[in-house]
Amino acid sequence: MIESISSAEFRLALSHFASGVTIVTADGPGGRVGFTATGFTSLSLDPPLVLVCVSKTASAYDGVINADHFAVNVLAESQRWIAEQFARSGVDRFQDAPVRDATRVSAPLIDAALVHLECMKHKVYDEGDHTILVGRVVASSTGSGPPLLHFARRFGAFVTETARDLGVGRPARGEE
Ligand SMILES: Cc1cc2nc3c(=O)[nH]c(=O)nc-3n(C[C@H](O)[C@H](O)[C@H](O)COP(=O)(O)O)c2cc1C
Repeated sequence: MIESISSAEFRLALSHFASGVTIVTADGPGGRVGFTATGFTSLSLDPPLVLVCVSKTASAYDGVINADHFAVNVLAESQRWIAEQFARSGVDRFQDAPVRDATRVSAPLIDAALVHLECMKHKVYDEGDHTILVGRVVASSTGSGPPLLHFARRFGAFVTETARDLGVGRPARGEE
């Protein structure tokens, strides 16, 4: 049998897949829960399905997996502190985080997130040390402005070709 790569090699490789950053939230049986997640992707257009990979050891696991609904909040660039807070262990992750109730499901929404996806739990799949939670999207809202990104274990900003062409973020001519 061909052996798997080591955990360290795997983590390093996957950390170089740039992604957006989400906060997955739910009103679990024990109260509201949430965690920072980059293991999020769209799955199907018809029906509209998304998936989130939830670590079986996450403190939010039971709350998210046992809820009938959940929300995916795609963070804006200015919400890096929320991404950091919702990844921290043993703290009140909702402290100072501006939240409101979802419109069609029971789940907290992070105010001013770039995108809100309100989901009904559709299916769960057990795989390795994570559970794949599939949600059917029943409401969404999409804002404008730059997203928060994650690459090589760091948060960062999106730079468009246009911004590059214009030299945004580079020293002005004569100042190099
Ligand atoms: C950038 C980033 C992405 C993450 N993505 C996921 C993810 O997709 N799924 C997941 O279960 N945990 C993910 N986590 C970890 C959780 O946010 C959280 O840190 C973890 O569940 C530990 O919390 P706990 O000690 O309360 O269990 C991510 C953390 C960071 C910083």
